[in-house]
Amino acid sequence: SAKPRIFSGIQPSADSLHIGNYIGAIQQWKGMQDDFDAIFCIVDLHAITVPQDPAGLRDATRTLAVQYIAAGIDPERSTMFVQSQVPAHAQLAWVLNTITGFGEAGRMTQFKDKSARQGADAASVGLFTYPILMAADILLYDTEQVPVGDDQKQHVELARDLAQRFNSRFGETFVVPKPRIQQETARIYDLQTPTAKMSKSAATDSGIVWMLDEPTKVAKKIRSAVTDTGREVRFDREEKPGVSNLLAILSAVRGTTIPALEAEYEGRGYGDFKRDVADAVVAEFAPIRERTLELQADPAEVDRILQRSAERANALASAKLAAVHERVGL
Ligand code: ADP
Ligand code: NA
Repeated sequence: SAKPRIFSGIQPSADSLHIGNYIGAIQQWKGMQDDFDAIFCIVDLHAITVPQDPAGLRDATRTLAVQYIAAGIDPERSTMFVQSQVPAHAQLAWVLNTITGFGEAGRMTQFKDKSARQGADAASVGLFTYPILMAADILLYDTEQVPVGDDQKQHVELARDLAQRFNSRFGETFVVPKPRIQQETARIYDLQTPTAKMSKSAATDSGIVWMLDEPTKVAKKIRSAVTDTGREVRFDREEKPGVSNLLAILSAVRGTTIPALEAEYEGRGYGDFKRDVADAVVAEFAPIRERTLELQADPAEVDRILQRSAERANALASAKLAAVHERVGL
């Protein structure tokens, strides 16, 4: 098709997405489905770069697929598949491994962070080569743009470097992708520590709103979010990180600009504001949660959807892999 290709993915590394994933990824993707030829992957091969529980991973993979659909990714319009069902990802990653410098891979800051957390000896080689697998994910599909948070920018740069290097060594084969960095207000922080990015891997989850939390729990977490001294509802990440985070959330779920919200809450206290944020998030998530539970009751249908999408992905990916093998003499 003539529409530019985008590719993005999320690891099935938790039982639910959180509101950061929703605002920073799913909501953005949802809005791109008309203008782009979109491929959204559930990157289970990436998830096993840290220790996993096999049954837990299998459940999380299907739940993530269900959440994509329930939150508005349309498998009729977009390709939505599980990475391990398309063998070309691991196969292309192997070839790309052979053109990646050891030092180049060693400069990836996410590996440094994650391996420091695990202890250098506990970190696997798979964790080290994670960005090369991610490059394969992107390059297999002639991806033009990669919607990501700015923490993934270095990995997309590596994918660009590898595409250019392969093309110049072996002949034009890959499209050189560009990162499409999410807006600053699409980054959501922990409700209890609003200077830290909301993350699945946080030590406690009192500051995380899970998309599958019960509505009363969602409301309670938001109403107990840390705010700041003062009473003004104003966007200022330095002085008012808690209020700014809630403004970013309300702006995203209501589709209202932040200045319009600041005007709306002028002269009103934090109490009103937090109650409205809670109501808006509950209104957004409750139907998604219900749809998720419905779809979870029909795993065979979910598997059929994933199977159809994997077939399309496989056709694209295996053609690209064949061209790569031919180029390098395999
Ligand atoms: P986590 O950091 O919770 O493990 P992932 O790294 O799996 O989440 O991220 C999946 C997607 O969600 C990525 O596109 C990422 O940019 C986005 N994302 C993750 N956390 C946030 C957040 N706190 N705010 C906005 N977007 C986020
Ligand atoms: Na992560």
